[in-house]
Amino acid sequence: MKDHDLHTLQQTFISTGGAQCGICTPGMIMSAKVFLDKHPKADRLATRSALAGNLCRCTGYEKIVDAVVEAMGRGRR
Ligand code: FES
Repeated sequence: MKDHDLHTLQQTFISTGGAQCGICTPGMIMSAKVFLDKHPKADRLATRSALAGNLCRCTGYEKIVDAVVEAMGRGRR
């Protein structure tokens, strides 16, 4: 990974539509990064719970959870 490359989570937030207006996105990605570092094979329920401290008014959370699960599947954290 080079300095200018997007992190896997950044890529999956874009590809799944998990980032819309972007207001919540930094907090979601930082929470997801810490969560994936500690729980690389978590399920959707645990993933959603890990992000619960971040509020999103745009996505309904499903696309955000999709982004984290997709990043988990790619195996790069
Ligand atoms: S993408 Fe707009 S608040 Fe989450």
